[in-house]
Amino acid sequence: MVRHEELYGAEPDGLWAAPGRVNLIGEHTDYNDGLVLPLALPHTTRAAVSRRAHRRLRLYSAQMPAAGPVDLDLDALTVGAVTGWAAYPAGVAWALREDGHDLGGLDILFDSDVPVGAGLSSSAALEVVTALALSDLFGLGLAPDALARVAQRAENDFAGVPSGILDQMASACCTAGHVLRLDTRDLGMRQVPFAMAREGLRLLVVDTGVRHAHAEGAYAGRRAECETGAAALGVPALRDVPYEGLDEALTRLPDETLRRRVRHVVTENHRVERVSALLDAGRAREIGPLLTAGHASLRDDFEVSCPELDLVVTTATSAGALGARMTGGGFGGSAIVLVDADATEATGKAVLDAFTGVGHHPPRVFEAIPSSGAQRLPM
Ligand code: GLA
Repeated sequence: MVRHEELYGAEPDGLWAAPGRVNLIGEHTDYNDGLVLPLALPHTTRAAVSRRAHRRLRLYSAQMPAAGPVDLDLDALTVGAVTGWAAYPAGVAWALREDGHDLGGLDILFDSDVPVGAGLSSSAALEVVTALALSDLFGLGLAPDALARVAQRAENDFAGVPSGILDQMASACCTAGHVLRLDTRDLGMRQVPFAMAREGLRLLVVDTGVRHAHAEGAYAGRRAECETGAAALGVPALRDVPYEGLDEALTRLPDETLRRRVRHVVTENHRVERVSALLDAGRAREIGPLLTAGHASLRDDFEVSCPELDLVVTTATSAGALGARMTGGGFGGSAIVLVDADATEATGKAVLDAFTGVGHHPPRVFEAIPSSGAQRLPM
């Protein structure tokens, strides 16, 4: 791989890393002011960064060598001017400048092992590592949640992707050995121990390798439906519909699709509460049925699953997994599977066989080890 010095003619001033994530539960709740429970993956995006006297932002990705360095005028970053992968780090510099921070020229070399297009938040990792590096290098002193906010603005307002705050908060704030219980309304958070090894458990990630074309439009559509549902119920966000009052609330919605969308969000928030209570009580082994119920809700009520994700869930649970669900936005991407440690191989094989049996490309299966959020690395 090319070195920073060869590329830019100077040693980097520092090295930073930010991880991808999976969400244990709490899907399509973040833009409803709801609850989420993500963990950081051991897979990270690293940035070797140097401050330079020029007023340019030079970006290079080791995963896109053919594209060469993207060379941007720091003082002319405007919405819509940068496309492709570079829009995420450029968007972070743009958002920091919009906030009034004075940045200087930068040369950045990125390297990553976060799978791209797999629903594992490679874009959030790219944004968050950039935000942390710039905060450190320019003495901005931004706390992890502030880094996540900057990263989300880069994604929403500069790259034009209408995501919530789940991915960026996970990448910025998770800690090793824990899931992050996050209230997306006020960013209140708590680290919940997820001691899988002690309980003889493993969490597998199955990257289906598929990404359905309508994903982005459908995501925006679900957000709009949730807003319509909240307005019809007279609440600021669906988070404000209490689980105990769900049946009554549903009678006030005229439309069957809207009823199903609302039911997903309200029951999903409740599942997050139940999963985090079980983890607090040291009963991780018992969360499986809640994960699988969450998948059914995303498939039937929220309609964001797809045949490949459903195949992972039905195959894994039939093969004896404790629970399984799609993770992330859906319409492809990855699923997670909770298994007994000694059933890891058999479950992985059952899923691979099922995929090849119906003629799908074999998915990539690996373990999700709850890892650290963004950090500066020793050089
Ligand atoms: C994507 C978005 C997140 C969140 C999830 C669904 O990953 O980026 O903000 O909405 O989908 O839970």
